[in-house]
Amino acid sequence: MKAGIESISFYAPHYFVDLRTLARRRGADPDKFLKGLGQEKMGVPPPDEDIVTMGANAARQALTGVDPATIDTLLFATESGIDQSKAAGIYVHHLLGLPSRCKAYELKQACCSSTAGVLAALALVRQEPHKRALVVASDVARYGLGTPGEPTQGAGAVALVISATPKLVALDIEHGSYTEDVMDFWRPNYREEALVDGKYSIKVYLRALSEAWRDYVRQTGRRFEDHARFCYHLPFTRMAEKAHLHLAKLTGHGEEPYETLMAQIESSLRYNRVVGNSYTASLYIGLASLLEGERDLDGQRLGIFSYGSGCMAAYLSGVVQKGYTAHLHADHHKRMLDERVELSFEEYAALYEHHLPTDGSAYETARHETGFFRLAGLNEHKRIYEKIERADSEPAHAEAERKAIAGHLA
Ligand code: CAA
Repeated sequence: MKAGIESISFYAPHYFVDLRTLARRRGADPDKFLKGLGQEKMGVPPPDEDIVTMGANAARQALTGVDPATIDTLLFATESGIDQSKAAGIYVHHLLGLPSRCKAYELKQACCSSTAGVLAALALVRQEPHKRALVVASDVARYGLGTPGEPTQGAGAVALVISATPKLVALDIEHGSYTEDVMDFWRPNYREEALVDGKYSIKVYLRALSEAWRDYVRQTGRRFEDHARFCYHLPFTRMAEKAHLHLAKLTGHGEEPYETLMAQIESSLRYNRVVGNSYTASLYIGLASLLEGERDLDGQRLGIFSYGSGCMAAYLSGVVQKGYTAHLHADHHKRMLDERVELSFEEYAALYEHHLPTDGSAYETARHETGFFRLAGLNEHKRIYEKIERADSEPAHAEAERKAIAGHLA
């Protein structure tokens, strides 16, 4: 039987920093960020936006036309957890009005937990094909001002409806896996910023790719040339280039023209180049970018590599379904990205330095543009979320936003 992705949508925060601006302030050559890392902009969430509001926004769109009563489980993947106990997915469950029978829980293994969610969801719908699962992955990538990781920051969420009627991509059961205990990237509970051994993390990523691919080949017998397009986890888009050249070399395709190899990944990079890293969401925002960027992938097989530092990796594959273009949310994504507002360096730094209170006092967050959900405030250590009533097509309120940002600079 078939099972796979019925719908996919992503959400990016309304604010971004142009990496040319960041390069100027850090005394770096802009081409280091634009060409060396392959990044152009990075998303910055305002204080009334978090993994819950971003995840709910992505899921709201992905569920368009899907009967919520058929959602059996919501799997929420993140490495920017807001609570050690309560799953962020429970808030999303409430904001979306999912049925009380629908389970909701949280998954963790760095950027790979979204794929752990997809694999669990596939197992569920293969067992009970009348049910659907909703996988939501949402993260804020935060490294620290002035660190080498700073230009690879970003934020975003993605939501995938997994079902036995995959209108977009039917995912194969067989997949390759690789797990190894390494310290390439981690974030202890007492820190807001990740710690990373940057160069080492790239080495481990590539080693995990080799090993997960070898296991995938053992399980499936497939070859490099059986795949028309490739999606990689995207901490920064240049990483996909490194990964794809690495895989091509490993499989005896290293001598193929550079342009031929790049054409196999280029469409998957468009969104991430302007959103930045979104950890668990990043790979699947890349998949949305690929599907929405090419109109003639009917029947083509995709190779999908998921990497989570620490580390666990998985190599998946799937076949793009006939007529998939009719089920995408490309216009919605284009409008969302077009409407974003650019921050000055000072505005970015002020938002970065903003912290929610941790003493349990009552606190109202300043109102920014946040899509259909926002974090209204906190009280007695409880997060308070609200829905925003607005038409789908209503434009952003630029004037109010400017005031809210100015409030952080005051
Ligand atoms: N013009 C063009 N290119 C330039 C340039 C210029 N003026 N100046 C430098 N470059 C190139 C460099 O040659 C280099 O290219 P190569 O990789 O091909 O050698 C590239 O720009 C980056 O330059 P550096 O290596 O000098 O950059 P850096 O040391 O300052 O940091 C980084 C790079 C290690 C990736 C850092 O941004 C970082 O730590 N990022 C976070 C960690 C990360 O993303 N790791 C990826 C694997 S782990 C993972 O995938 C999980 C996850 O999501 C975090």
